[in-house]
Amino acid sequence: MSRVAVVTGGTRGIGAAISLALKNAGYQVAANYAGNDEAAKAFHEETGIPVFKWDVSDYSACTEGLARVAAEIGPVDVLVNNAGITRDTMFHKMTPQQWHDVINTNLTGLFNMTHQVWTGMRERSFGRIVNISSINGQKGQMGQVNYSAAKAGDLGFTKALAQEGAAKNITVNAICPGYIGTEMVLAVPEKVLNERIIPQIPVGRLGEPQEIARCVVFLVSDDAGFITGSTLSANGGQLFV
Ligand SMILES: NC(=O)c1ccc[n+]([C@@H]2O[C@H](COP(=O)([O-])OP(=O)(O)OC[C@H]3O[C@@H](n4cnc5c(N)ncnc54)[C@H](OP(=O)(O)O)[C@@H]3O)[C@@H](O)[C@H]2O)c1
Repeated sequence: MSRVAVVTGGTRGIGAAISLALKNAGYQVAANYAGNDEAAKAFHEETGIPVFKWDVSDYSACTEGLARVAAEIGPVDVLVNNAGITRDTMFHKMTPQQWHDVINTNLTGLFNMTHQVWTGMRERSFGRIVNISSINGQKGQMGQVNYSAAKAGDLGFTKALAQEGAAKNITVNAICPGYIGTEMVLAVPEKVLNERIIPQIPVGRLGEPQEIARCVVFLVSDDAGFITGSTLSANGGQLFV
């Protein structure tokens, strides 16, 4: 039986590439999304991957969503916490809502999802968790105090939980993408992208979602069983940590 993988935010952008790469590597994949039904439907029609709508910032919605996945596909062996949002603004203009929205999705979402699959992984003595953090969680980014705080929190979550999972053959790792050409980044004005962002990337281009997806496929494989609590930086040379 092939392993079951859940990818949050798995119908668009980096998540869609991860879902597809895992399917191509032989996993039974469930792709979660929040609300963009049109994109999810198109993704499903194109790939055949089943899609499941729930909000990762809502603990009970995660319980119900994962119960549907378990009933339709099976218990979860691999969880990729990829769903993420931005609500960028300078700190002096940031509203409590903008702070909480980003923390609740990008950080608490990891708790809400992982907590529900953890006991089953412990019981079956196998699990793979990959958390998609960000270069901006490693270095901080002006205009992204909420996002940088949440993504840095993802790294602490990863390192602490890795220690708890190790004896049960559950690995927990993080990937910190640099700037990847998805809707999230292409929403940045072209002038800012070309004059301020791309010149900071030594390889001279944005990353591709598939380049992050290939990192995930490796980290969830049996070959990566000795790697846990690590942070894989995939950023075109922009930051060495
Ligand atoms: N793009 C980059 O350059 C970059 C760099 C570093 C890190 N990252 C991180 O990589 C991850 C993916 O980014 P992306 O650029 O691919 O984003 P994206 O294109 O905006 O896609 C985001 C995905 O997450 C889903 N989502 C958002 N909030 C959710 C929620 N509360 N519950 C469930 N699903 C939710 C969206 O669902 P809907 O389709 O329903 O909206 C969508 O499928 C994020 O964690 C992001 O922070 C991205």
